This record gives sequence, C-alpha cells and structure tokens, in this order.
Amino acid sequence: MEKSLVLIKPDAMERRLATEILSRLESAGLKMVALRMLHMDRALAEQHYAIHRDKPFFGDLVDYIISTPIVAAVFAGDNAVVRIRELMGATDPAKAAEGTIRKDFGLDIQRNSTHASDSPENAVKEIGIFFTSKEIFD
Ligand code: CMP
Repeated sequence: MEKSLVLIKPDAMERRLATEILSRLESAGLKMVALRMLHMDRALAEQHYAIHRDKPFFGDLVDYIISTPIVAAVFAGDNAVVRIRELMGATDPAKAAEGTIRKDFGLDIQRNSTHASDSPENAVKEIGIFFTSKEIFD
C-alpha cells in the first residue's frame, strides 16, 4: 500500500484540530500506520523543507513549523498520496475546494493547517525523516 507523510501544523495544533483532521483521513478509508508528537528543531525543519530552500518564504516557513509542537503521521492506502492531497485541498486555503481540510480549517497559505507529501518518492524521503521502520505498523 502507498504511504504519505502528514503533518498537523502549529495553527491547527493551537486550535485543537489535530484529532479532527486525523479523523477525516481515517473516515475516508486511509489507515494510520504511524503517529508521533514532536517539536521540530531548525535542522529537522530545514531538512524536511529542503526542496523550498531557495524560495523567498523559506525562512518564515521554517520559523513557523518550529513555533509549536506538531503531530506527524503516516497514512497508508491505495493511491494515498493523491487521495490525501485531494482531502486537504489546495495549498492556499483561499483556493481550496469546499469540504476540504484546508478550506474548512486553514487560515492562510502559511498557516494552512496541514502538510502532506506531494509524490510517492517524496513520501518515502519525508517519512524517513520522522519515523524509523520499526515505528511504522504496516
Ligand atoms: P506545505 O504543504 O507544508 O509545503 C510547503 C509550504 O510552504 C506550504 O505547505 C505552505 O504552507 C508554504 N508556502 C507555499 N507557498 C507559499 C507562499 N507563497 N508564501 C508563504 N508560504 C508558502
């Protein structure tokens, strides 16, 4: 089964939305196979968001993701990467479709409540940043 990394970001943590967001993914038939709460340090955040290193918003993005503890999870299912991205909606909540997680909970493009892997290849890399193979109950 395909897997994807999901992060519940600081804006959602502060508004006590973590379990509601995880529940939406489970209700859609995806299986939670790993879960942890952590406070990312700068080095971990820069590694996770390395693909955005040259973007103008990189510094703010790293400052933001390390501003509070977050929840990291791995969800598995057929076509999990695309299905989770559909459930989350567009990166910018203002452009997200009705009924999606970011439309319902996101505040703006930075405080967009969740992160999810954008390809199966990146999912493997991202999951490896947060979890050892023993922590994934597949
Ligand atoms: P995420 O899925 O975590 O991946 C990278 C993040 O960068 C993205 O969600 C947004 O929160 C953030 N991001 C993307 N584009 C912009 C932008 N133009 N300005 C600020 N933040 C952005």
